[in-house]
Amino acid sequence: MRTAFMAGNWKMNKTPSEAVAFAKELVEALKGANAKALVAPTFVALPGVAEVVKGSNVLLGAQNMASVESGAHTGEVSADMLLDIGVQYVILGHSERRAIYGETDSLINTKVKFAIEKGLLPILCVGETLEEREAGKLEEVILTQVKEGLKGVSEADLAKVTIAYEPVWAIGTGKTATPDDADAVHKYIRKVIADLYSGSAADAIIIQYGGSVKPDNVKELMAMENIDGALVGGASLKTDSFKSIVFFDK
Ligand code: 13P
Repeated sequence: MRTAFMAGNWKMNKTPSEAVAFAKELVEALKGANAKALVAPTFVALPGVAEVVKGSNVLLGAQNMASVESGAHTGEVSADMLLDIGVQYVILGHSERRAIYGETDSLINTKVKFAIEKGLLPILCVGETLEEREAGKLEEVILTQVKEGLKGVSEADLAKVTIAYEPVWAIGTGKTATPDDADAVHKYIRKVIADLYSGSAADAIIIQYGGSVKPDNVKELMAMENIDGALVGGASLKTDSFKSIVFFDK
């Protein structure tokens, strides 16, 4: 049985004081949820939000992390810094990091392995662009991103990894993949994991769907066999909508 896992990626939204006030509301609103719930504020909001979610059922994630330990890396934030303030998860390889900041599969793989080594739990994002989908390259793109992203990760460590399938064309566009289309890709990701690792690893891995997940489409997505949760952008920025997503089963 895979536990449902709903993560809110706040992206570059909310100042630290807004984030703290919002996190206080969420901690109250998400009490008693069956699903795991996580919030990922910006770096500067993490310390304040960490204090608020401490002792609650709301998990804390960062949206990115440096690929190296420390030193001369202007503008970067290290794994140790995140761990020091109580961060548990880290989103890696988000399509915005890939497209806007040029992150490659190889860099993302370094970060995935480094996060695991440090004791942070990676959420590895994969997903195709509309152009790639229309060119019939969906499986090729997903295979490469999953295989390269997980290169050198042992089966024991794979248990610490969540995969998020986020078709780029569905992010922030209001266009959601149909539940059947999303499930087909999730099923394919499980096949890739089965081929790389084992059938039991493929059964166990949590695969979130991301891309315009909203209160009114979450139930049908979560009804699909291979969809275990959601990585939510826009709809994670309001208490009511994120609450409805986390309580999709109520
Ligand atoms: P939206 O839910 O706003 O489409 O964003 C999805 C996403 O990119 C989450 O990481």
